[in-house]
Formats: sequence, C-alpha cells, structure tokens
Amino acid sequence: MNTIDELRSRALNEIDASGSLPDLDALRVRYLGKKGEITAQLKTLGQMEPEQRKAFGQAVNAARDAINQSIGARRKQLEAAALEQKLLSEKVDVTLPGRGEQPAGLHPVTMAMERAIGIFTKLGFDVATGPEVEDDHYNFESLNFPPHHPARAMHDTFYFGDGRLLRTHTSPVQIRVMEKGAPPFRIIAPGKVFRSDSDQTHTPMFHQIEGLLVGRNVSMADLKGVLHTFVNAFFERSLAMRFRPSYFPFTEPSAEVDIGWEKGDGSEPGWLEILGCGMVHPNVLRGCGVDSEEFTGYAFGMGVERMAMLRYGVTDLRQFFENDLEFLRQFH
Ligand code: PHE
Repeated sequence: MNTIDELRSRALNEIDASGSLPDLDALRVRYLGKKGEITAQLKTLGQMEPEQRKAFGQAVNAARDAINQSIGARRKQLEAAALEQKLLSEKVDVTLPGRGEQPAGLHPVTMAMERAIGIFTKLGFDVATGPEVEDDHYNFESLNFPPHHPARAMHDTFYFGDGRLLRTHTSPVQIRVMEKGAPPFRIIAPGKVFRSDSDQTHTPMFHQIEGLLVGRNVSMADLKGVLHTFVNAFFERSLAMRFRPSYFPFTEPSAEVDIGWEKGDGSEPGWLEILGCGMVHPNVLRGCGVDSEEFTGYAFGMGVERMAMLRYGVTDLRQFFENDLEFLRQFH
C-alpha cells in the first residue's frame, strides 16, 4: 500500500512539473502504458489473497484515476500555453504603417505618342505596325532610294551584315500596308527607329509616327489641312504653320513643316521644323501595285521625342533616356 501511495504522489508531482506536451505524454506511457508502473501493479493483483486484493485493487485503481485526471488537466494547461505562444508569434500589428504605394506615371515620350495617336485616330486614321528589323528592300529600295543614292548615307544605318538592318524610319510600314491591301489607305504607324548617331539632339533610338493616306483626288492641300489640324490639337493652341520645299526620295513634291513657336523667353517667335512630308512618289505606289494614275497619296513622318520636347518644355533630348526619377516624376 505504501508503494502505491509513493507511486501516486511521485507521478502527480512529475505531471505538475512537466513542461511540454511530449514530456507529459512520456509520463503517461511511463505510468499508465502497457508496460507502465501502475499497469505493473495491477498485474500483481492476481497473485493476492482475496482480502488483500480488494483493498490493494481499490488503491491502485484510485491512483490510476488520479494520475489520469491529473494528466488531462495538465494537458489542457500545456495546450493553452502552446496556443498562446503560437498566437503571440503570429501576431499582426495592425497599428504598423502600411508599405506605401509609389505613384507611377507614363513616360513623357509615351504620353506624346499616345496623344498624337489619339488625335490621328479621331481624324480617321488606323494604326499600323511593322518590324523594327527590316532589310534594304523595305527600308530603302521600295521607297525609291536607288542603290547608290546619297540619301542612304544620311540615314546612318545599323546593318547586321547579313542583309538585315534596323529600320531608320517608319516609312517601310507604308510599303507593308500598301503591299497587303488595296487603296484607299489611311494609316499612321508609330514605332521605334534607329540611327547610328548620338549627340545633344540625336539618340541611336528614337520614335516616329508615320502617316499615309492614299485615295482618289488626294492633294497636298489635304495634307496641309490634316497636319495643321493635328499640330493645333497636339499643342492646344492656334499655331502658324508653313511648308518649306525639301527632298525625300519617296515623296514628290516634298516639304518640311515648320511651326511658328514662341520660346517663352520674350524673344521673337521663330520657325521650328517639326516634320517631313510630301506626296507619295508614283514609283513607290507602282512598286506596291497601286495604280498611280488613278490614285494619289500623301505621307508624313515626325519625331515623337521632338514633339514631346516642345510640348513639355524639355531642352535636352537625352533626358528622356536617362531614367532619372526626379525628371520623370515631373510628368505624373
Ligand atoms: N521617313 C522620313 C524620315 O525619317 C520622314 C518622312 C516620312 C518624310 C514620310 C516624308 C514622308 O526622315
């Protein structure tokens, strides 16, 4: 009987002192398991005298129940403590400040591009695209640049050495559009162009928007009207505009377009060149299978960076390509 009492109080003390669920479970096995100490005591009952057996049996059973109960109570405590610990470690501090969002914005060249596209789209032009890697045929030959024409040299072309080149202008898109369909045509072609040239006013990559309109009775007056409408809409003011005779192999006659521009520094307004244009050369139309007796057309091409510089008052072209956030944030 003393053994049982000792066993019982030792077990209860150990259970109280157990610090974790695995420790507690080890105690359960040690006392109540198949080979446990209490179980071993129960096994001795069989060899006892009936009188002794009754009292001893009651004591062992009482000890077993007490241990069982105590394990249950301790388990609850340990589980509650474990939960508390888990909640603490997973706690979200809702009073901490948020991560913060950085306002972003479109690049000024993209803004100018989208602005121009929006205006021409309203005027009825569709948007066409073509590849940036072209060949001599599309970039020059079909645009009426004869093989050794000096105008080729002016394009500072990047050649791949296998006949391919980076397009130096968006005019090849005119050819691709006309080859594929039948007149009338009314498209603009925005995109990247490349020239091996780099200084304050030139970057090796820049953007152009090409325009092409081919139909019956299309005249240079139509061209001038559309361009004047465009520049007034783009700059949101009524600007003076003039055509100055020029030369491009793929247009005849050709013109450069100037707008009257006030610098805003009190100086006299001057003429600023903003784009090139002309009537599509009959050789170009014929080369694309367009009857140049029945159809005439005009084309124009403008530099988007230049338009963006004028509209947003940027003085150095290279700022567009430096990715300086201080500069870019001004346009948000
Ligand atoms: N492709 C010419 C250039 O890049 C611009 C242009 C386009 C001129 C269409 C006339 C007509 O210089």
